[in-house]
Formats: sequence, structure tokens, C-alpha cells
Amino acid sequence: MLYSDKVMDHFRNPRNVGTIEDANGIGEVGNAKCGDIMKMYLKIDENEIITDVKFNTFGCGSAIATSSMATEMIKGKKVDDALKISNKAVVEALDGLPANKIHCSVLAEQAVKAAVENYREHKNKSA
Ligand code: FES
Repeated sequence: MLYSDKVMDHFRNPRNVGTIEDANGIGEVGNAKCGDIMKMYLKIDENEIITDVKFNTFGCGSAIATSSMATEMIKGKKVDDALKISNKAVVEALDGLPANKIHCSVLAEQAVKAAVENYREHKNKSA
């Protein structure tokens, strides 16, 4: 089988899809390989804990599945710990992806990083 049960589950039933009205970190990235885009919304509290996360994507099934898993993995984590979660770790948590779909998993990782950067920029400005 091409896709693991976990990939199929997260693809059919993605967690944390949508937007966050009062997000304080928003990141949007594009995948150079296929042109798909991903938008990530983070709600980060004063202790730098990610209390909520949502995503929206014009990406393929693998992008949806990896983003869904990635949002589950970073929710409730400290920002610094969330940044340490690589696309590889997400792919492993999904029991793997076909080699030609690995690039899709990079979208989620980059979108999280972009959202954290956005959050830090805002914080520095208001400090
Ligand atoms: Fe574009 Fe998968 S083919 S993200």
C-alpha cells in the first residue's frame, strides 16, 4: 500500500483545519516544487505555549495529512520545542510517506516556523 493508515486517517479526517480569528502568529509558505500553499495560525500565550493552532492549505493529500499531524504535535508545546519538530518527525509519526511525497511534509514545518517568526516580530514591536 502506498499510504499508511495514519496518513489516510489524517487526510480523510484532518485535525485543526480552519483559521484563528485572534491568532498572534500567522505564517504562509509555498512549496517551490509544486506551487501548493499552506497557511498556519498560532495562538501563543504569555508563557510561550501554543494554546491553539489551525491550518488551511491548497495542498495535496500528503500536505493535508502532515499538517494535520504537525498541528497535533505542536499543540500545547512551548514555541521552542515546537520549532524542534522536523518534518521527518512528522513523517515518522504518520508511519512514513512515499519518497516522492516527502517534499509535501516540508510545508507544515516551514509554515510553523514562519508563524513563529511572525509572532516574534509582533512581540518585539510591542515590547
Ligand atoms: Fe504539493 Fe504535495 S504535491 S504539497
